[in-house]
Amino acid sequence: MAETRKLTLSPRQTADFEMIANGGFAPLTGFLGEADWRSSCEDMKLTSGDIWPIPVTLATDLECEVGDTIELSASDDKPLGRMTVTEIFERDIDFEAENVYRTTDDEHPGVAAIREEGTRCVAGPIEADALPNHIDPVTPHLLSPEETKKAFADRGWKRVVAFQTRNPIHRAHEYLTKAALEICDGLLIHPIVGETKSDDIPADVRIACYEVLMKDYYPEDRVLLGVNPSAMRYAGPREAVLHAIVRRNYGCTHFIVGRDHAGVGDYYGTYDAQLIFEDIDPQELGITPLFFEHSFWCKKCEGMASGKTCPHDSSDHVFLSGTKVREMLGEGEMPPPEFSRPEVAQILIDSYRNAG
Ligand code: ADX
Repeated sequence: MAETRKLTLSPRQTADFEMIANGGFAPLTGFLGEADWRSSCEDMKLTSGDIWPIPVTLATDLECEVGDTIELSASDDKPLGRMTVTEIFERDIDFEAENVYRTTDDEHPGVAAIREEGTRCVAGPIEADALPNHIDPVTPHLLSPEETKKAFADRGWKRVVAFQTRNPIHRAHEYLTKAALEICDGLLIHPIVGETKSDDIPADVRIACYEVLMKDYYPEDRVLLGVNPSAMRYAGPREAVLHAIVRRNYGCTHFIVGRDHAGVGDYYGTYDAQLIFEDIDPQELGITPLFFEHSFWCKKCEGMASGKTCPHDSSDHVFLSGTKVREMLGEGEMPPPEFSRPEVAQILIDSYRNAG
């Protein structure tokens, strides 16, 4: 006889629930079963034929059977809704890792996360009564796909470019977004606010950085700050495709893909996340990727540029690694204005000081 079970989701699963429930992961309506899991890993497609590059599964040891109902709570115990179990299967983690992440290395944070989740997956459609809570700084920017589309329509924007980020917006990011905005009606700044790795800058600090930039450096009538509740997977090329699909679902027509999009360490080539789109029909994807080369400040050009637009030697370019910037911030030292707007750098220095 079918029973009712209870499960508290992990933060990543909570984020997946929210994205399925709010339509950000459309056409998904629940956690994937085995055939869709396999097809997503192998072919970047669901069995329906829809493009889907990273399987979204619910791995759990919870005792349950097909036909059971699982009452789902968020990681903070807020009741969210339920799932009807239609299938229980074992996934092959190495197979998923190799196909999706292009590595089985446990040092890769996305691979480590799926290994930690485990192999036993419970699949089925979800029914949402509520969406997860978010920290205070995020909540005002929490627009669902429907609300985001309405905001675009209210502003009369037809061509809207989305910018994914997991970092504060530095000058290179600002350059890409403004270059893209030149050929669009509006810009959606859409940072990930789900789980990121521990050395990434936390969402509350980043939101403060975005807000100060919106106030001082972007035109109010052309830019909207929303948030993407998903967790980062660091799957590079595959995640660039997922990020594009999500922004399509939020009503955007264009999507920025720069250097090493959603990459980590040396697992992906600088432009792998652009090359993957060569095999994808933009019509089928429903959003047009806009590709940008590695950009930097050039002292001779006296402005932001890239290898495509700047003829000067790399010794004229201001380039700081993430590690170098973290070191500077840790010592209370301002990164140069060619790298980061001073208002943003100040927020980061203050947050390092408070954390230390
Ligand atoms: S990501 O994990 O969200 O991709 P990040 O926040 O650093 O990381 O990047 C956001 C977007 O900006 C991505 O499309 C990335 O490719 C792009 N990007 C970041 N830095 C640069 C740069 N210096 N030149 C070109 N593109 C960049």
